[in-house]
Amino acid sequence: MTSEITTAYTFKPKKAGLGLRDAHYDTIQPHLNSLGFLEIHPENYFGAGAELKRLDELADLIPITFHGVGLSLGSSQGLSIPHLRKLRYLIDKFKPMAFSEHIAWSVSGNAHMPDLLPLPYSNETLEKVSDNIKLTQDFLGREILVENPSTYLRFKSTMSEDEFMSRIVEKTGCRILFDVNNLYVNSVNFLFDPYEYIDNLDAKNIGQIHLAGHSACDIDGKVCLIDTHSTNVAEEVWRLYEYTLIKKGTKPTLLEWDSNLPPIEEILLETQKATDIMNNIDNKKPMEHYREVMANAS
Ligand SMILES: [Fe+2]
Repeated sequence: MTSEITTAYTFKPKKAGLGLRDAHYDTIQPHLNSLGFLEIHPENYFGAGAELKRLDELADLIPITFHGVGLSLGSSQGLSIPHLRKLRYLIDKFKPMAFSEHIAWSVSGNAHMPDLLPLPYSNETLEKVSDNIKLTQDFLGREILVENPSTYLRFKSTMSEDEFMSRIVEKTGCRILFDVNNLYVNSVNFLFDPYEYIDNLDAKNIGQIHLAGHSACDIDGKVCLIDTHSTNVAEEVWRLYEYTLIKKGTKPTLLEWDSNLPPIEEILLETQKATDIMNNIDNKKPMEHYREVMANAS
């Protein structure tokens, strides 16, 4: 274990990345040139075997990032040291460009839930989550990113989610994986302004961005959005993404598509769209932005 935390975050791919899923292994290789990186869930590689060998081959061809789903950073019982050891082993082996997890919990006692469950945003939770993040960074020897969750119920909170995220960054030195689709889903489900949420985020705290598709369902005549990762990115989410880049600068961006997978060519149209937005964002900055840049330069 090391107490030295790597804080430099210099990974700035000019092309969007893709969340690697099992079904992609046979089709992705000829398309790697169009992608900036691949993101994997390290838990899928905890057992040695064919998956590890296939990942080994891909890691020689394209940068890899890790996106954990099982650490349960929101657990009040602390973290699983065996889980952290397995993560450390894979991080030492593959040296991913980034490691991210979620502001959520999924473990209680010996029960492991298949969902990333929401937290109350309070001082008490802030302390617990921050302690868990510090332990993780210490154990893994690197700065981590933490993702804003999609939620379908909310606890009584004493602060907003964006304030909670900012205070976590202040306390731990981690950074934010900003999932634009999660924000949009939450803003519809809980009726708040997603643009104000983005305005409140500090640009330097955002280390990476996620994009994904969602689905809608009807609950007692009320529309509820579910973060299914099973469709194209919605137009509203593309607009929020563009707004984020204009206001906060270009960030490494990744597309998540997990179920109802279409042919890889169709998925890559979405990653290409994100790449095009990243590379053309300067042309879309409003005049106020240029005035600001000129004023700072003089
Ligand atoms: Fe995400």
